[in-house]
Amino acid sequence: MKIDQYSLLKEKLSSNKFSSIFVLVDDNTNKFCLDIFLEKTKIKQFKKIIINPGEQNKNIDTCLIIWDKLNTHKADRKSLIINLGGGVLTDIGGFVASTYLRGINFINVPTTLLGMVDAAHGGKTGIDFKLLKNQIGVFNDPLEVILDSDYLTTLSKDEFLNGYAEVFKHSLLTDKNDLNFNSLIKLDFYKDVGYIIDKYSQIKKEVVQKDRFESNHRKILNLGHTIGHAIESYSYKSSEINELKHGEAIIIGLITELYISHKQLNFPLSDLVNVKKNVLKYFKTVDLSDKDIEEIHNLMIYDKKNEGSKINFVLLKSIGEPLIDQETSKELFVESFKFYNSSL
Ligand SMILES: NC(=O)c1ccc[n+]([C@@H]2O[C@H](COP(=O)([O-])OP(=O)(O)OC[C@H]3O[C@@H](n4cnc5c(N)ncnc54)[C@H](O)[C@@H]3O)[C@@H](O)[C@H]2O)c1
Repeated sequence: MKIDQYSLLKEKLSSNKFSSIFVLVDDNTNKFCLDIFLEKTKIKQFKKIIINPGEQNKNIDTCLIIWDKLNTHKADRKSLIINLGGGVLTDIGGFVASTYLRGINFINVPTTLLGMVDAAHGGKTGIDFKLLKNQIGVFNDPLEVILDSDYLTTLSKDEFLNGYAEVFKHSLLTDKNDLNFNSLIKLDFYKDVGYIIDKYSQIKKEVVQKDRFESNHRKILNLGHTIGHAIESYSYKSSEINELKHGEAIIIGLITELYISHKQLNFPLSDLVNVKKNVLKYFKTVDLSDKDIEEIHNLMIYDKKNEGSKINFVLLKSIGEPLIDQETSKELFVESFKFYNSSL
């Protein structure tokens, strides 16, 4: 798998005759991933752009730094940006490339599990704006996505698990038969990671192919994200709870949205309890007060995926049977957090 991908990349680089190549890294991927990438690609002529890591830097200020570097090094329409990093870096690098000179080519080389199974695919690029996640951005596909689990050896355990939130989501959306949720959680998350990346990145690609601009089917990928994004945004500004990683927030979103699915669509209680019990083996529970829950509700109203003040959810009738554009009451939303906090 890896050899083919890198030779494909080499072919692309030689056939496209790029005028210049920029490799975008953050402090961590500069330290841990760049040498591996250069060793495998044998790229010699390139300019490196380093940004600060982390969601707090997924903003317009970081874009200004990158655009400025591109300008200083006279990047033109035939230049290429290679984004070597996690979801934050591929989101921002894709956005910068898509807007510089009205769009130059970019290639994503995800270095986190979350990036490999999700963020690097599907053409959503963007940055956060004020408190809102991914509020500014464009749809634009990378020329290529290179999937190589060798980068994961230096990833912290927390970041590794963070990626599993999206793996769980993909499984709940689609796994009816071959590898279902119950067999997924029995796998060795480290040893079987290559298989997991292949399977779950493919699921994302298939969903996106059917509905690139999220007018319909692609919305299913928002399972867990309506509540999850609001919790993530809330955690950045709140002094009441610690900052949450994307995956940690999505896990809370998945459990609460499955509870709403149970109440509204008869999603089986046994599956709900099974999912909660198993995912919480890997993620710590977050204590949320009534005031926190109220503020999370307010933030959801501003989510760009909601129309007017209507909040749209993806809910499940059963595992593998998602329904989009589902509304729910504020009461049920509040109740779902009681379930999340309960010992059930
Ligand atoms: N575009 C999409 O479709 C899409 C989908 C899902 C998530 N996302 C976005 O992805 C982002 C989260 O991505 P993430 O979880 O990859 O976070 P991240 O990019 O912040 O990476 C996590 C941390 O790991 C470090 N890191 C990356 N690779 C490493 C490696 N191999 N070894 C050691 N350290 C390494 C990074 O520097 C960072 O500190 C969020 O902003 C989310 O909105 C986008």
